Parts: sequence; structure tokens; C-alpha cells
Amino acid sequence: MAKMVALIGFVVTLLSLQSNAELTKIQHLPKKEGNLAILVIGDFGRKGTYNQSEVATQMGVVGEKLNIDYVISTGDNFYEDGLTGVDDSAFYESFSDIYTADSIKTPWYLVLGNHDYRGDVLAQLNPVLREKDERFVCMRSFIVNSGMVDFFMVDTPPFQLDYWTHPGSSHYDWRNIASRETYISNLLQELDEALKKSTATWKLVVGHHTMRSVSDHGDTPELLQLLLPVLKANGVDAYINGHDHCLQHISSNDSKLHYITSGGGSKAWRNVFKKNEDTVRFFYDGQGFMSLEVSKTEAKFVFYDAFGNALYNWSTSKAADELRPSF
Ligand SMILES: *[C@@H]1O[C@H](CO)[C@@H](O)[C@H](O)[C@H]1NC(C)=O
Ligand SMILES: *[C@@H]1O[C@H](CO)[C@@H](O)[C@H](O)[C@H]1NC(C)=O
Ligand SMILES: *[C@@H]1O[C@H](CO)[C@@H](O)[C@H](O)[C@H]1NC(C)=O
Repeated sequence: MAKMVALIGFVVTLLSLQSNAELTKIQHLPKKEGNLAILVIGDFGRKGTYNQSEVATQMGVVGEKLNIDYVISTGDNFYEDGLTGVDDSAFYESFSDIYTADSIKTPWYLVLGNHDYRGDVLAQLNPVLREKDERFVCMRSFIVNSGMVDFFMVDTPPFQLDYWTHPGSSHYDWRNIASRETYISNLLQELDEALKKSTATWKLVVGHHTMRSVSDHGDTPELLQLLLPVLKANGVDAYINGHDHCLQHISSNDSKLHYITSGGGSKAWRNVFKKNEDTVRFFYDGQGFMSLEVSKTEAKFVFYDAFGNALYNWSTSKAADELRPSF
């Protein structure tokens, strides 16, 4: 038995030596030192329809009021089937020509959603898009560090088994993802290492798919099984997602993790409410977006509707003795 354990230990060491890939890290320090302000939007690219333009206008207003540093997208950047290539005019029609307010002419850090994987996924990842609109920073999994806060951006579409086994009439572009199993195990290992290394006070994870949700798609079992343990083990403060076209806040009954959905960028009003095992604190079935203001001691989340009305505020603070060193 001891021999077996030693052997397993050896194999694990070897594996970690082999895959020493690290998640790409972007440093984006806030304009106002120690005080980050951002907007979070998801599930939006529909050429302005389904209130996408109304939401965009209000993002401009709130963005200006909060003097935001950047925007985060939870994915499904282009409906229905991502981009057809780097020259797809949807890039302008659903992004550049919609989000025109000065306050949101900041970098946009974007993850991919399942609909993005239904097009030419490599096009959305291609830095050539930044020559068309320098805001567009889309990668599969990466880190955005803003001093006291680290955002861990996680590529979630490959987790959902259905997309591989029962794609129906949809085609998923899995190029450069050799096998689902290897891709996911490498990603989880890289994420775990990056979380352990992080000295940020706030650790926030962003992905497209839901973990906890009362709306149409409900929970994503693959994420609860595979990703959630890594987040809980590393003291992540919140998991922020889209996929369900609504705004919601659910808190975990057995950890300090909060589940935040900001997927109201365009088509919404699914009229679905499913029971959830964790505690549902807020749910809005319509269009909208979220702001997030973070300081060393406090994080404040606000949801807005398509008129820019603040629907819900939630703040959480860290006692001084809870603060991890930040340097
Ligand atoms: C646009 O937003 C308004 C206000 O929430 C809502 O009444 C309307 O149904 C929305 N339109 C669509 C197409 O979702
Ligand atoms: C979680 O807490 C909520 C609110 O207290 C409760 O309604 C729910 O039953 C709890 N769920 C579990 C699985 O304990
Ligand atoms: C939430 O905060 C915003 C901005 O600070 C404020 O304007 C609004 O009245 C608050 N709304 C609620 C529902 O607490």
C-alpha cells in the first residue's frame, strides 16, 4: 500500500513537471489606486436587438458614473453561432457599433460561451480583432490582476459533456482541444496552481456556464463536480457566470462562495424558475448588467435593468485579520 501511494505520488509529480503551462496573466491596475470599478455583461451579441442597445446605453451611463476601469464578459459574445471568421461583420454589428459610449471604451476581457464555440472559435481568439477594435481581449482561460483582486477567467464550454456527445444540429469548434479529459484536467491543475499562488485579497472566478441557477439551464452538473471543489478549496469569493439570460445571486449553504449570474445582455424573459438547493437571494428574469466595485476591504455588486435602474445591491466585507497579504 505504501509503495502504491509512493508510486502515485511519483506519477503526479511527473505530470505536474510535464504540464508546467501557466495561465496567461494580464495586469490591469485600477485608475484609482486600491479601488477597482468594472461592469459585467453576458449573452449579448444580437446586432442590437432584444434590448441589447438599451442595455449598452445604460452601461455607458453607469460606466461613466463609476468611472470604470474595464468590462468583463461572461461569454456568448456573438449569436447564434459565434463569428464566421475574423472578417465577420457581426463583430461591428454586435459589438463595436453597439457599445459606443466613451466610458466603456476600455478593455473588455471576454471568455467564450457555447454559442461562440459554434462558430470559428479561433477567430474570436485571434488578436487581429484588436486591430478592428482594441477593446476586445478574448482568451480561453487567463487571469486579470488588478492588485487586490484577481479574476480567473475559465473556459467552461468544453466541460459540458452534451456538446461532445449530443451536439444535435450544432457544430462545436473543438480545434486545439485535443481531448476533453486532458484539456479539463490540465486546466483545473493550472487554475488550482494559479489560485494557490495568488496573493490578491479577492479571488473571483468568471466562466460562461452556471454553477447554481434557478433559470432555464439550471445548475451545470459538470461544473459542480469538477470546477466547484477547486474554487471551494482555494477560498474563492464568488463565481460569476452568464448562460442563463437573467441576473441572480445565490449563496452557498456550506462555503463562503457566492454564485452571481450576469447574463442579461440581450434576449431574456424565459419565464422559468426552478428550485435551487442553495440560498437564492435575488433573481431578475429580464435584461440588465452588473457593476462591481472592489476595495481592499469591501466588494459591492449592483444589478441594473435595461433602464439603468439599480435593482439590487449586495456588499461583502473582509475583516482586516482576514486579509491576505497583497503586494
Ligand atoms: C425590453 O425591455 C423592456 C423593459 O424591461 C421589456 O418590457 C421588453 O419586453 C424587452 N423587450 C424584449 C424583446 O425582451
Ligand atoms: C440552504 O439554505 C436555504 C435557506 O436557509 C434552505 O432553504 C435550503 O433548504 C438549504 N439547502 C440545503 C441543501 O441545506
Ligand atoms: C443601490 O446602489 C445604487 C448606487 O450606489 C443606488 O443608487 C441605489 O439606490 C441602491 N439601490 C438599492 C436597491 O439598494
